[in-house]
Amino acid sequence: MIDEVRQARDAALVRVAASCTPDEVRAVDAEVLGKKGPLAGLKTGLGGLPVDDRKAVGQAINEAMTAVRTAIDERSACLRSEQTTARIAAERLDLTEVVTRQRRGHPHLSTQAWERLEDVFVGLGFQIAEGPEVETDFYNFEALNMPRSHPARSGFDTLFTDYNPDGSVLLRTHTSPVQIRVMREIAPPIYMVMPGKVFRRDTPDATHMPVFHQIEGLVVDRNITMTHLAGTIDAFTKAFFGGGFSSRLRPNYFPFTEPSAEFDIRRPDGTWIELGGCGMVHPNVLRAGGLDPEVWSGFAFGFGIDRMARERHGVDDLRDMFSNDIRFIEQF
Ligand code: DAH
Repeated sequence: MIDEVRQARDAALVRVAASCTPDEVRAVDAEVLGKKGPLAGLKTGLGGLPVDDRKAVGQAINEAMTAVRTAIDERSACLRSEQTTARIAAERLDLTEVVTRQRRGHPHLSTQAWERLEDVFVGLGFQIAEGPEVETDFYNFEALNMPRSHPARSGFDTLFTDYNPDGSVLLRTHTSPVQIRVMREIAPPIYMVMPGKVFRRDTPDATHMPVFHQIEGLVVDRNITMTHLAGTIDAFTKAFFGGGFSSRLRPNYFPFTEPSAEFDIRRPDGTWIELGGCGMVHPNVLRAGGLDPEVWSGFAFGFGIDRMARERHGVDDLRDMFSNDIRFIEQF
């Protein structure tokens, strides 16, 4: 009988030692020390023993139970502390650790050109203004000396909204309407550039996009002449492109300026880039802006921003700039 007690004790101790979690220890505890456990079973058999043996066997059972109890408590405490250690390790937060940075993005080519243009014009004493991308017929055409029947309207490939079926609400085709808004908003002298997004019904190709960016310039003051315009364009050219560049004006026609010109930039190698339009603000445009043409005169200009980015970085196909292919964009 004593041997049976020892066997039961040893079997129980092996099971306790083999337990891997506090839950397992608890299950072994209930099984081996419970009422239906092997040691409890031996205890019920005590009654059938001779009195002398009963005492010795009973004592052996009690000792066995105490040994198993102690083993269970120790194992349980040990496993619980292991668990705590593991959790603390997992939750560890090293605040002194240097985090290696993820790859950083950068502004888009057109945004870079936009910001540089602003910097250059601010350096020349201009202020910056912006207008809405959804415009009315009045600001986009009418106030710019293009009444409803004006043939120049057809050159703009306008995208109309269906907000207003008579076509009086549209996506602005150029930044020139901001000239009118500025004249109506602030009193001269005005020295302002107005960058922004413009829209035209165009199929994308290497040199055209239906959405692109322009920057508009407007100066209104007393006694402004064409030489101020030419001087400003040249100062801008040298500040933006560098001292080796120069500019020229070529006669042209725009409804909102009179006289009108196109301006070109000369590269140091002698080749020319056609940049944009300009001219002396038409008296009708000054009047639409609420200004008296007898008192005030001014000049205006407008050109594409994306083209500046293309020129600077030698991008062949404008579509590459807007396809959002990260392999292309991240080169700049
Ligand atoms: N708005 C014209 C365009 O989109 C560009 C332009 C020409 C702007 C002459 C001007 C200007 O301010 O004076 O084609």
